[in-house]
Amino acid sequence: MKGRFITLEGSEGAGKSSNLLFIEQRLRRAGIDLICTREPGGTELGEAIRDLLLDHRNASMLDDTELLLMFAARSQHLHELILPALARGQWVLCDRFTDASYAYQGGGRGIAFERIAQLEQWVQGSLRPDMTLLLDIAVEQGLQRAGERSEPDRFEREQGGFFHRVRQAYLQRANAEPSRYKIIDAGQPLEQVQQQLDHQLTQILDTWQKH
Ligand code: TMP
Repeated sequence: MKGRFITLEGSEGAGKSSNLLFIEQRLRRAGIDLICTREPGGTELGEAIRDLLLDHRNASMLDDTELLLMFAARSQHLHELILPALARGQWVLCDRFTDASYAYQGGGRGIAFERIAQLEQWVQGSLRPDMTLLLDIAVEQGLQRAGERSEPDRFEREQGGFFHRVRQAYLQRANAEPSRYKIIDAGQPLEQVQQQLDHQLTQILDTWQKH
């Protein structure tokens, strides 16, 4: 049996890291053989590309360069890790994937969605996540949370308007594809966010077991 591909998305300060572990544990408790990975990154080469992308000293990076590096890392990630795992029947939980390119490079930077769709088709063919959990939070609340952390990376140095466009792009995609996307209200206290996640995961596991 082919494995399932689940992705987690969210804008700054949405609590992705704390909730990733919760999701991983919930799936493992259900007896699922799972690998956890992230983008950009997930392979040795991909992590080197990630360093280039996040390094705030690379302030001269062009928007197209940024987009192409995201997909270069993704291509490596897919062929080295994700596709072989799915083919073995393992599930893959990925911290961000192509929806982030639509949100950040499309919404945030203003690159046309059609152009991103061309790269998506080229690099992924027909592969899309089976489910995407979107941790949604008001931009100001998210930035306040994120600001409490260490040295900001190249993306975290962007201004508020950028993150408003990122959030809008995520929400627009989520509303256009409600069967794949589950929107989680991440503005609530952690315990309630995890209750929502638990509810969504229980539902989807039930549905998938029937098919
Ligand atoms: P992280 O904060 O989830 O570790 O991700 C690193 C940054 O990379 C985050 O600011 C979002 C950004 N990103 C994109 O801009 N496009 C993409 O396709 C991906 C996967 C991440």
